[in-house]
Amino acid sequence: MPANSIEELPGVGPATAEKLRDAGYVDLMAIAVESPKVLSEVAEIGESTAVKIINAAKQAADVGGFETGDVILERRRNINKLTSCSKAFDELMGGGLETQAITEFYGEFGSGKTQICFQLAVNAGRPVDEGGLDGNVFIIDTENTFRPERIVQMAAALDIDPEEALKKIHVARAFNSHHQMLLVEKAQELAHDLRVRLMIVDSLTAHFRAEYVGRGALAERQQNLNKHMHDLLRFGDLNNAVVAVTNQVSAKPDAFFGDPTRPIGGHIVGHAATYRLYLRKSKGGKRIARLIDSPNLPEAEAVISVSEDGIRD
Ligand code: GTP
Ligand code: MG
Repeated sequence: MPANSIEELPGVGPATAEKLRDAGYVDLMAIAVESPKVLSEVAEIGESTAVKIINAAKQAADVGGFETGDVILERRRNINKLTSCSKAFDELMGGGLETQAITEFYGEFGSGKTQICFQLAVNAGRPVDEGGLDGNVFIIDTENTFRPERIVQMAAALDIDPEEALKKIHVARAFNSHHQMLLVEKAQELAHDLRVRLMIVDSLTAHFRAEYVGRGALAERQQNLNKHMHDLLRFGDLNNAVVAVTNQVSAKPDAFFGDPTRPIGGHIVGHAATYRLYLRKSKGGKRIARLIDSPNLPEAEAVISVSEDGIRD
């Protein structure tokens, strides 16, 4: 049986496990790719023991593999686009939010991040030929901001039975960052029996930001955020689902990233998100969405409105 945790590796007792964790080796993969020399110094063990531990970690960790280009092309052929109900925004995104990718919305409070998530949740249940994904939605709600009443309003505005819309939206509260990460695993289990085409994490970073305070905690925060993002991307790939996450901007200088218009989580979140959108408030209930980072689309803006009916041009 391959080991499931650091403690289960041969030659690792509680004291060694603690030393490894303190040094930032929080999962098997981190150990699997380390050199025996470094590991023996960090954990204060002999080099031959380190070799044994690394070999066991290599067997246990999911190192991944190589795929040929034609297999990847085939998977990309299955990509769908989810509409936002705003033509301008969909055009900005090359036709809508892409499945098998993470789209990050960041912006200050009230910039419309949560409202967009509600609209996407309603739309994902619609048929594909109406810009939907004909599937269920998972929402990981970290700030208790899910409002079924808004789903009812937005569904009614599209002539969808609100009850039907609500039945497709599955919401879980995450009480801390660890719980939030576990919920992605749980979601993957549930997705075996349920056609899930949209995963929302609103907010991606709030718990991480609140829990890991100060410079000393930054490395661990970033490491866990990185794992979380990769788990989400994997969920998107496995289910051909859209992954939409929200992120705040730092009002006061972050321990690391001082710029006040910067999204939380820095480069880790930025690199893992396939598309990044910066939302800001404009006059008369309008919002400006700016596409910041995309592998295949130009940097550009779209103006959207937030109303009782939801997101529109
Ligand atoms: P934080 O989560 O606080 O960071 O903000 P957010 O970006 O998630 O903001 P959210 O999406 O919740 O936007 C809230 C704003 O949406 C409100 O200030 C309103 O301007 C607008 N809004 C929400 N509901 C309605 C509604 O029923 N009618 C109209 N006209 N506007 C609404
Ligand atoms: Mg919100």
